[in-house]
Amino acid sequence: MTSARVRSLLQRMSAQEKLGQLQIVFRPRLEDAAALVREGIGAMFWPQSAAASNALQREAVENTRLGIPILIGLDVIHGQRTIAPVPLAQAASFDPELVEALARTAAAEARSGGVTWTFSPMVDVSRDPRWGRAVEGFGEDVHLNAALGAAMVRGYQGPDLAGPGSIAATAKHFVAYGQPEGGRDYNTVDASPHRLRNLHLEPFRAAVDAGVASVMASFNTVAGIPMHVNRGLLTGVLKDEWAFGGAVVGDADGVPNLLPHRVAETLDDAVRAAYAAGLDIEMGGTPFSIGLDAASLDPERLDDAVARVLGMKEALGLFDRPYVDESAELLEPTTETRAQARRAAARSAVLLRNDGTLPLAAPSRVLLTGPYATSTDHLGAWTQSFAAPASSIADVLRTRPGVEVVVEHGVSFFGARSDDVDAVATSALECDVVVVCVGEPSSLSGEAASRSDLRLPGKQADLIRAIAGTGIPFVVVLAGGRPLVVADWIDDAPAVLEVWHGGTEAAAAIVDLLFGDQEPAGRLPMSFPRSEGQIPIYYAHENTGRPATVRGEMTLRTVDVALEGPGNVQEKFTSKYLDLDLGPQFSFGHGSGYATFAHGTPVLADGVLSIEVTNTSARAGDEVVQVYVEDLVASIAPPVRRLVAFERRTLAPGETGTFAFPIGREQLGFRLADGTLVVEPGTFVLHVGPTLERTQPVELRVD
Ligand code: NOJ
Repeated sequence: MTSARVRSLLQRMSAQEKLGQLQIVFRPRLEDAAALVREGIGAMFWPQSAAASNALQREAVENTRLGIPILIGLDVIHGQRTIAPVPLAQAASFDPELVEALARTAAAEARSGGVTWTFSPMVDVSRDPRWGRAVEGFGEDVHLNAALGAAMVRGYQGPDLAGPGSIAATAKHFVAYGQPEGGRDYNTVDASPHRLRNLHLEPFRAAVDAGVASVMASFNTVAGIPMHVNRGLLTGVLKDEWAFGGAVVGDADGVPNLLPHRVAETLDDAVRAAYAAGLDIEMGGTPFSIGLDAASLDPERLDDAVARVLGMKEALGLFDRPYVDESAELLEPTTETRAQARRAAARSAVLLRNDGTLPLAAPSRVLLTGPYATSTDHLGAWTQSFAAPASSIADVLRTRPGVEVVVEHGVSFFGARSDDVDAVATSALECDVVVVCVGEPSSLSGEAASRSDLRLPGKQADLIRAIAGTGIPFVVVLAGGRPLVVADWIDDAPAVLEVWHGGTEAAAAIVDLLFGDQEPAGRLPMSFPRSEGQIPIYYAHENTGRPATVRGEMTLRTVDVALEGPGNVQEKFTSKYLDLDLGPQFSFGHGSGYATFAHGTPVLADGVLSIEVTNTSARAGDEVVQVYVEDLVASIAPPVRRLVAFERRTLAPGETGTFAFPIGREQLGFRLADGTLVVEPGTFVLHVGPTLERTQPVELRVD
């Protein structure tokens, strides 16, 4: 609802002043920025300090006719100064409270410097690890994206957007940006109404329900219509159907990009078409730079867009408190934020396999090898120059009492340096254990960083195999911003810890995990393919009429087969590759830990599914209980299973905890093309367990 203040401003504003509110410009030089603000630009990228932010706000408040403060935007994606694990890693924590808390820290640091608006969270469901931006989101699952996206929104925005530690969040990229053809960034998307509704739109709906202040239009087309002019989705679904009252922002130059898309002939047409479709803020400043005549825009639409932008400024408290306290700017991580980042990096790690080599049993002599032994490249994609740097694993390990550390690089990331695998193997023979630190550096994921070959770059796999050949116990620490193809070495590795890009405190967390000071209990938010040829591969695929089977047992359901792993595929006319085992290398939801747990029999009573879980080990540890729904017969081919609930909880040695999950319409239903949620009568099976591979079924009938 439009406030009296906003209504009064709207009455007094000229069309040109209104148009100024509907643009955000990239970070100009400070002198130019001041001039732009005086001209009436309503939003700008962060000028890089609290003092500079205040200077720009002062221009807006004191030197423009109506004194409207500006929005200051920045891509605060996983931290401002203290860098948290990349969002895909945060997803692996299966811990919404953690995600919320990390966003709260990021917001406090950002707002202290004058930032009021972030372009995060990214809630694009992504099932293609070739796509570099998978790192920025929460992976392949709809429910996980929805739950964690909403948590991040709550964290950024806090209980009160006007509070000192709060910033406006942006759910992006609306919509279906996570499904570009071929995994190539910015590429075409075609999504059926069924998939749009059940996959791509759902996390945005959750973000809107969580009160997200803005939504960003995506670069891609959906069914031929670029999202910046997609009236049906921007206005029809987002604003009309969902009653989203915030502002729709364009992506960087997404409006001028309508020309190469070949849906507009001139920039003038492009801008007018975008505003008409429901865009409220253009990103880049095209309307002013082309001298667009504001009077050529539909006045009602113009007022609606301006009211949304002013509403955001009001909610942020900017009319009353446009300035920040420059002496309170948070420039460095604190002891608390470092501890939080360290805990987060540990909680994001996924133990992919372990024969008992981990945790390391107080070895005296450790060989650290691989490019990540000494690299400090743990921050991941989307961090800015002012982010607090990370240490290397070697730096941290050297400070651990009682451990003698030997470092031999062996190979570099890309194999360009004189790589010496044989020397490493020789050193390994003189050590108790080898920690091979490999991965994909940050530059290989993020925006415009798609890859077609997902194996470890350079000769890193050779290094792992050489170490395996020595017979010395070893573990692989695998870093990166996406699921990698690990088929050429995984069977040689006794233990593998996926650590992603863990942020400022990644190295300390990795050492904590290696020595068992922390428990790895994360779960994969995205399937690891056996080969790039399998992509897209995701667990919640639809049933086909010809599911592949192992050993010719047609009665097996597809998912059971997929999870059974390598098998003797005998049926010819079924959905599979002749040259690959069925299923992914590691499925969504996969991961183990050091502690062990026993699961009781799940019970469904009064709409609540509950299960008792006991920690059967001598150490405290976390279990992640996951609940999947299987709809046995539906009017639309249902996914083989889909996650509908999860909980991660710490249990002390010997402790038993009851995990309980409400099961209702939201969990059992699916959406029709018009958005209606339907629950069809019939039998459902709930599958409950610590991973997708180890679940117990509970049947449920809906009449
Ligand atoms: C382009 C990216 O797609 C978007 O996610 C980001 O927020 C903007 N650039 C602004 O940096």
